Parts: sequence; structure tokens; C-alpha cells
Amino acid sequence: MTGMSNSQFPPVRKAVVPVAGLGTRFLPATKAMPKEMLPVVDKPALQYVVEEAVTAGLTDILMVTGRNKRPLEDHFDRVDGLEAALRAKGDQRKLDLIRESSELADIHFVRQGDPLGLGHAVLKGEHHVGEEPFAVLLGDDLIDERSPILPDMIDAYGRTGGSVIALMEVPQEAISLYGCAAVEATEVDGLVRVTDLVEKPDAADAPSNLAIIGRYVLSPEIFPLLRRTEPGRGNEIQLTDALKEQARGDGHGVYGVIFTGERYDTGDKLSYIQAVIQLATRRDDLGADLRAWLREFVAGLDD
Ligand code: G1P
Repeated sequence: MTGMSNSQFPPVRKAVVPVAGLGTRFLPATKAMPKEMLPVVDKPALQYVVEEAVTAGLTDILMVTGRNKRPLEDHFDRVDGLEAALRAKGDQRKLDLIRESSELADIHFVRQGDPLGLGHAVLKGEHHVGEEPFAVLLGDDLIDERSPILPDMIDAYGRTGGSVIALMEVPQEAISLYGCAAVEATEVDGLVRVTDLVEKPDAADAPSNLAIIGRYVLSPEIFPLLRRTEPGRGNEIQLTDALKEQARGDGHGVYGVIFTGERYDTGDKLSYIQAVIQLATRRDDLGADLRAWLREFVAGLDD
């Protein structure tokens, strides 16, 4: 699904990253710090997400923030005192590391105000995004850099002009944790047309086991639909509900790219710990030692 050029639709250049969640599942760690700043090995979860967007060519990034936005702003900015201290020590490697995050992208911030749901957060991006297609990346989902999905989604937008969601097959009993899509095949392998959507259905009522994972490429048609979307599941304005209207309407529709790569979920404590271990075992600097220790540790668990 590559090689789309000369699309009749505008290029995707911007990304919106909602970071206003309260992070209550990680209290007390998130009492004074956004959950997106929790380190995954040695980088905040959010930096992986920003790097993914930049790698896909999206260097204009709008973060929709809430309380505790200060650490986010500081992380993606220069830190003069720390830079001076590292320079004085002659530690170029660490200097490069801390500069990396401040030179990654052109990052903007807008406040969400009342936390009324993901759909509401995306709507806060309307002014910045304007009449352009844009990506949305959710910070709880990390996509392994070896199996990126955004390029295929941007390509699908270029073909269709519709909104594009990332879909992943999950065990039927897990579907109630996600938005769920009913789909039909297209002539392009891995690309489906979305016919219906439901936010976090009971497993018994779910139209499929295809879960929405936290990557979207949205056409600007979504904004008027979001403005009309009433609070839904959890009394929140759901992006899934606005996309359902787009899928059923007579615009460019909604498509899904089926993800078969590696994804890490940092959304709750157990999956966060698993994500840290999985990513660390793959690191050049830590992997071999950690894998050796893990084998011994796991063997010891049987005792
Ligand atoms: C959000 C979306 C849901 C999607 C999920 C992916 O839910 O509303 O449709 O499946 O992200 O991570 P949340 O996990 O923020 O409740």
C-alpha cells in the first residue's frame, strides 16, 4: 500500500496529540506529572509518540493539554541550566540526548479546559489544524518503530480522502476496552471500508473483534461532525461516535488499515510494566543483560 503520489487530496502535515487525561490509574506517580511523562525505559512515553509522528513526516504537532502541562512544555524545550552543566562536564552524549527532544518538531499547545472526552480534545485542535487532514496519536499506544502504521494510513487518506483509523484484531473478550469497527473489504490488501462503529461494546454485542488502536488520520470533515456529537459512552464526547456519522454519511467515508505489527499499551499498570520490559529487552545497551537476568528470575519464580 505504498507509492501514492499526486493525490487529489491535500497532504497530511499536522498531528494532534491529546495529553489532558488525569492519569488516575497511575496515582500517586501522576499526582504532579502528566502520565505521558512516565518513562518507558529512559524516555517519556510521549517522546516515542512524537518521534513516530516526525518519522512519518508530521513535524507540526499540537498537544491538547490539561492540568500539569508544564513538564510537557519543559521536556520539549531547551533546558539552559542542565545543558550548561553537561557542557561544563564535557558530557556530549547526554547533551545530545536532552537536546534531541527539543529539536524534534514544531510543538504547539492548546488547553482542553473541561475534560469532556477524546472527541472534545480533537475539536480543540480545529483552529490550529484548519481545513487540512491531520493525524491523531494517543499517548497510551506505542507502535514499534520497526512496524510503523502511520505511513500506510496517510497513503490510505491520499487514495480515499476519507478518515482512516488503525484497526487491530483482539480476542473477542477484550473488545469492550476499545472502539469496535464493522468493515467490508476493498480491492486494496490491508485496507477496509468502515461501515459502522461502536465505542467499547459488550463482547456479546460487538460487530467484530477489530479494535481501534490510538492512531487516526482524519479528514477535516470530522470537525462539523464532532461539533454535533452528543456525549456518549461514559458521558464523554466520543471521537468514535463522530466517525460513525462520517462512515454512514455521504462524504468520503471512513477506512481502516489493519495493523499486524507490534504495539505496546502503556495505559494501565500491568501493560505499562510489560511494555517497559519488552522494549528494554530489545535495546542494544540493555537487552542482553536484561534477557539473561529475566531467564534466571523467571526460573526462580517456580520455587
Ligand atoms: C480511546 C478511544 C477508543 C480506542 C482507544 C485506543 O479510548 O475512545 O475507541 O479504542 O482509545 O487506545 P480510551 O482508551 O482513551 O478510553
